[in-house]
Amino acid sequence: SAAEKGGYASFMLKEIAEQPKAVADTLLGRIDAEGRLSLDEVRISPSELREADKVVIVACGTAFHAGLIAKYAIEHWTRIPCEVELASEFRYRDPILDPRTLVIAISQSGETMDTLMALRHAREQGAKVLAICNTNGSTIPRESDAVLYTHAGPEVAVASTKAFLTQLVACYLVALYLGQSRGTKWGDEVRAVVRDLSRIAGAVEEVLTTMEPVRELARSLKDKKTVLFLGRHVGYPVALEGALKLKELAYMHAEGFAAGELKHGPIALIEEDLPVVVVVPSPRGRSVLHDKIVSNIQEIRARGARTIVIAEEGDEAVAPYADHLIRVPVTPTLLQPLVATVPLQVFACELATARGNEVDQPRNLAKSVTVE
Ligand code: AGP
Repeated sequence: SAAEKGGYASFMLKEIAEQPKAVADTLLGRIDAEGRLSLDEVRISPSELREADKVVIVACGTAFHAGLIAKYAIEHWTRIPCEVELASEFRYRDPILDPRTLVIAISQSGETMDTLMALRHAREQGAKVLAICNTNGSTIPRESDAVLYTHAGPEVAVASTKAFLTQLVACYLVALYLGQSRGTKWGDEVRAVVRDLSRIAGAVEEVLTTMEPVRELARSLKDKKTVLFLGRHVGYPVALEGALKLKELAYMHAEGFAAGELKHGPIALIEEDLPVVVVVPSPRGRSVLHDKIVSNIQEIRARGARTIVIAEEGDEAVAPYADHLIRVPVTPTLLQPLVATVPLQVFACELATARGNEVDQPRNLAKSVTVE
């Protein structure tokens, strides 16, 4: 009913708007004033966390994209090797697991059959399973060794939005906690990340206030057949997520690529006026990456692409090559997905609406996929 949607035209719009609160709620009480992580609820003992020699993340769809981003954070902050796998592929290839493997199963609903079967398989091999889940008491956390709940609140729209942002927050918390439990020496970089993470809800809020041009752009593209999404580093899974949202909601052909792969094939797809969304990493710090993506943008633009660029405030180097420039607040590179995904959600939602689609209930999809 209209009342349940709190004045919004759809649950999806309501849930997009709820993201700053969802993110803040998921952080609540989990980082103390000294910047230390307290995740006592994770009932995997510090010694087990110290001894883990591999992390394997299993999930489906949007939750899988959160896992892909988590890999960058886990490996960079803890130096523990991390693999990410689609839950539906996982057990069928006879993966190598033992009691020193920490498996992280990410699921909004906690009822996704593919993810459940993957975690059952992992536990049979003696691995420890930590669930990241949004639904209290659902099957996946019940069957795991431990759970870290996301506090997004109920997500009704089929397309995941606020659950995704909170999954990212939970993944960052787990990565930092793992590092802390293993006595990793926190450098200034990690300290800055913890500080910025505890303020990230404000950055998400800021993005939400600047979305009108994104909506206008989305409406103008409603008759397009294809939209491509490019990113590097953590921007690559963000590109995959942007493409998934557009497929689900607008029923358009959309694909996400790692920008560095362009020249290995996908650049052949570029033609006059093809919309290409590019997620640009921060020009600070890892600036090599930034410069490479700027040259990728130049390459596709020279071939006629209409470039839609998501870039950090103050990034002037990329501006001349952007046909449409979407600004996001300055954040540490690894946290950028929390702000860069939001315009892609708004873009897909608006484009789908312009095409006359029902955004809360896209055709052929179920909110939780309880069959394999
Ligand atoms: C996201 O927009 C999708 N509807 C879908 O990919 C979803 O993320 C996936 O089915 C996993 O669901 P879960 O998080 O409930 O396990």
